Amino acid sequence: MATYPYFDAARNGVNFEQMVATVAQIPAGDVLLLHGCCHNPTGSDLTPAQWSQIADLVAERKLLPLIDFAYQGFADGLREDAAGLLAMARPGCELLVASSFSKNFGLYNERIGALTVVAATESAAQSALSHVKQAIRANYSNPPAHGAAIVTTVLSDPDLRAEWEGEVAEMRERINTMRHLFVETLNEKGVARDFSFIARQRGMFSFSGLNAAQVQALRDRYGIYVVGGGRINVAGMTEANMDYLCAAIADVLQG
Ligand SMILES: Cc1ncc(COP(=O)(O)O)c(C=O)c1O
Repeated sequence: MATYPYFDAARNGVNFEQMVATVAQIPAGDVLLLHGCCHNPTGSDLTPAQWSQIADLVAERKLLPLIDFAYQGFADGLREDAAGLLAMARPGCELLVASSFSKNFGLYNERIGALTVVAATESAAQSALSHVKQAIRANYSNPPAHGAAIVTTVLSDPDLRAEWEGEVAEMRERINTMRHLFVETLNEKGVARDFSFIARQRGMFSFSGLNAAQVQALRDRYGIYVVGGGRINVAGMTEANMDYLCAAIADVLQG
């Protein structure tokens, strides 16, 4: 397994030039793992134009994209969040999508998701199915059934589906509202550092740019827990704790 550059801490965004330069060297037939939306841990997603450029490279170099799709509906919408992977779904191109229903159905402890395989030909689809069955047999043989039954029930009933879509939208809007409120509240607290990138990012997580000493100070002085590399869980922010959080960050940034 090899990696490609993705995040540029200096600009708090995707280092697209380096990503493209590396992807352009990947040998034909290799699998390219991409996050469909709400990139974990950085919060930085590709733009539609960047997705299309990566899709061109994937087609040109005959790579097999594997889209890790764990947060569908958490960025801009259930359909909107699939735009990147749909850019890869071109006639004759093959594609693997690993969807998780842990977050968007709140079914973390049911271990439920779905693998979508797009094959170029009918016979390739049959071969893929037989490989998938073998992998299943060797890994877990028989999946837990209840999560799948819940997802199937919800998605096949128009009323339940509409209710679920509304709840996912509520989650998405709440997280995006918290992102904006976080930036505004830091400004109100007199923080000079530019955190506006947090409002442009999407999903449950963002790299805050806080260093190890600041992360430790937040824990020691305020009982606020940020992952060592500075990754914050945006979904943990609420209107009630925002003032405390931002005052604490303003304090630790002063040293
Ligand atoms: C990008 C990404 N993929 C997959 C997962 C895990 O999905 P699951 O709970 O379905 O194993 C996570 C987080 O838990 C994630 O952030």
